Parts: sequence; C-alpha cells; structure tokens
Amino acid sequence: MPDTVTTRYGAQAGLTSRPSKALRGTVGAPGDKSMSHRALIMGAMAKGVTTIDGLLEGDDVRATAAAMKAFGAKVERVGEGRWRVTGAGGFSEPDDVIDCGNAGTGARLIMGAAAGYRLTATFTGDASLRGRPMRRVLKPLEMMGVRWLGRSGGRLPISLSGGALQAIDYTLPEPSAQVKSAILLAGVNASGETQVIETEATRDHTERMLRAFGAQVDVSDGAEGRVIAVKGGQRLVGAAVEVAGDPSSAAFLLVAALITPGSEVTVRNVMLNPLRTGLFHTLIDMGADLEITNRREAGGESVGDITARHSSLTGVVVPPRRAVSMIDEYPILAVAAAFARGPTVMRGLGELRVKESDRIALVAAGLGACGVALEEEAEGLIVMGTSGANHDVRGGGAVITHGDHRIAMSFLTLGLAAREPVRVDEPGMIATSFPDFVALMSGLGAQIGAD
Ligand code: S3P
Repeated sequence: MPDTVTTRYGAQAGLTSRPSKALRGTVGAPGDKSMSHRALIMGAMAKGVTTIDGLLEGDDVRATAAAMKAFGAKVERVGEGRWRVTGAGGFSEPDDVIDCGNAGTGARLIMGAAAGYRLTATFTGDASLRGRPMRRVLKPLEMMGVRWLGRSGGRLPISLSGGALQAIDYTLPEPSAQVKSAILLAGVNASGETQVIETEATRDHTERMLRAFGAQVDVSDGAEGRVIAVKGGQRLVGAAVEVAGDPSSAAFLLVAALITPGSEVTVRNVMLNPLRTGLFHTLIDMGADLEITNRREAGGESVGDITARHSSLTGVVVPPRRAVSMIDEYPILAVAAAFARGPTVMRGLGELRVKESDRIALVAAGLGACGVALEEEAEGLIVMGTSGANHDVRGGGAVITHGDHRIAMSFLTLGLAAREPVRVDEPGMIATSFPDFVALMSGLGAQIGAD
C-alpha cells in the first residue's frame, strides 16, 4: 500500500445495508485515530526514531503522514499498521501546501506543532475541512506570537508563520481536545510555561503521549478546572508507540450487535480511556449487554475486549456533561436510540454542528428518512425510539452524508436491523477513519453492498 494520501472524492456509487441475520464473530478494533495522528506528529517533532504499531491506516492519518514528510521527517511504512518516523528534532519549512484532507485533528494539531518552528506553511483540506472553524486554534496561537492569514471566518486555506513563541495561560472556551493539543504542541517550543485550563476534561492522549516522548507535562486541578502545564524548550525524543483500538470505530460494530436480533460480537483491543468511554456507559444505562474482558494496559492506555449481545434497550436522558467523552458517538447512539423503548434525550451537543458535517442536522434528516420520530434542538436531539420490538424501525431511507464518515457508518448500521434497506451516499469517505468497516461488518454477517 503506498503511503500517500488516497482520499476519494466526487461522485461515487452508494452503499446499501440490508436487514441481516444475527451478527457473530470476533474482530480487532482498528487503531485509534486520535492516537495515530499524535504519534506521527510527535514522531516528526522528536529527534530520532519512533516506531508505531497499530497505526490506523485511514485517509485522515495518511494525510498527516504525508504532512510530516513535507515538514522534513522520514516516514516509512514497514508493515501492516507498522510505521517508522525518523524525526529531525523539529519541523523544516515545507515547499508546498499541506493538504490535511478531511481531518480536523490533523489540521489543528499540525498547525499547533508547526507554530513552534521558524517557518511559514500553508494548510488546506477537503470541502468539509475548509468549512470548519479554525479560529479556535489560531486565536491562542496568535496570542503566542503566530502570524496567520486565512479566509473569512478563519477558514482554510490558512498560511501561518511560527517561531519565537511566548507561553500563554489559556482557558478553553469550548471543550476541545484538538485546541488543547494544538496549544500544548506549540507550548513545547515556546519560551516559558504554557498552561491550558479546561472546565471539562477532554481526551488526554496528547498529555500522555508527550510524556512517552520524554516531555514533562503537569496536570493539576485548579479553581476553574483541569490545568495542563508544559514548559517550553523541551526536546522530544523518539519513542515506541503502541496504538490502542479506536472506541469510536468499535462503537459501530457493538451497536450493530445490540440492535440485530440474535447477535453476539466481540471487539478486541478497545481503548478504555475514561475520557473516551461515555458511549459504553450510556449503552449500559440503556440496558445493553456489554461485557468487558481481558482488561490490560497497552501503549500507556487501558484496553479491553468488549462483547455485545443483542439487547432490549430503553431510552435514557444522557447527562450533558458526558458529551465530551462520547462526542463522536452521538450519531451511532442515535441509531441505538431508534431501537430503544421510549425517548432518548441528548443535549449539550453544540459542538456536533461543527464536526465533519452538521451532525445534529444530518442525524435528524437520516432518522426522519428512516421513519424514526425525533425532535431536533439547537444543541440537542431527542430520538423517540420504537416499542423495542425486533425490526421495529422502518428504514428504507436514502441518507445524505455530506461526506461524513460517521454518518455513513451509523446509517449503514441502522439498515442491518431495520425492515427496509438503507442507502448512504459517498461511502468512500468511510476510509477516512475505518477503511475496513464494510469488510469487518460483512465478516460478521452484515449484508452491506453496492447498490
Ligand atoms: C479529537 C477531538 C475531538 C473529536 C475528534 C478527534 C482529537 O474533536 O471530535 O474526532 O483527536 O483530539 P474536538 O477537539 O473538536 O472536540
């Protein structure tokens, strides 16, 4: 497989999922997307060799790998999911535009990392990424001394010039691990101690991984929330990174089993970082039969195998404070909620409107097209659920994904347990985060194919 960006855009045939018999089997979770981006970026910032095992070989991460090459690192694929990054101890100026594809994590973290070096770089991405807010990252970077120019609203393409940064203390206005991470990566090369304060704890892979690369990162509880401090002038050194399985991808396989009668599916090696497991807690609250076995530590994260068995689910009110630990999982939770008895109330979801798509709007439209009653709110969604009987969701929708991988996978999952097939457009985008989705699902018995 070439280590180039292989995003697929433009007109594509759709993909259809059909009512399926019991799903059965054991599969490995694909590598975590968040960890994969970070491992490549820190490997390129570091001096020396970084080996990465279990890297997610999705389009988003490949775009980051290509970017790290452009910033001067040697990036090699040495086996399936096994990559070697030889960092020069810093970024050099790229001689062309950096294309981050569909990846918000890639774009924001790389801008933060690049900001610490004396260089000018121009970033762009696909149509979705070019529409997403970047000011949330550029504002704190500007406070640190970065100069930038971009499209109106702080949209890509954006050029920034970095180097000679000053540390800042910054309270995150929105709970965003990407913004936190961009500031911390810039802070490694700033003068003074940078502090990021978050009122709601977001995923902490950057903090954990910076330590694995030899940096000191201090985390404490302050009056306003969690304080993450990193001193400038630290040198990262190459590390061995083991990437745990992505709970956000495992979610589709597990929910497929929960809603498809007779199913029993085990997903191995799922990361169980408590800042990522909100969906599993919510599903258990709904009555899901989820069993975690073989808990262990791998690559600085706790991981386990999760078995899901078909369950009769009941709607719940999801605590809004849980949103941050399951922010990418609301589309698939909404699908589970469609099969539950009674309403599921999901609130505090403003951030969902600025993901790869407006996920509140697309989930509402897709569920509506599949005959599920719901109420859409400015920052929330209430899914009415059905009687809880098998195959009680009509399905039959032609779902518009706006190129959003998680919308596509969520509705293909719904179609397995609905009465009528469900079609999604632009299925090629699934490769951004879960290239083996259709193959793994099919191996479990799911009926998913081209229409
Ligand atoms: C991510 C953080 C989240 C999440 C995204 C990955 C990360 O985004 O939605 O898929 O790796 O830091 P925000 O930081 O915008 O909440």
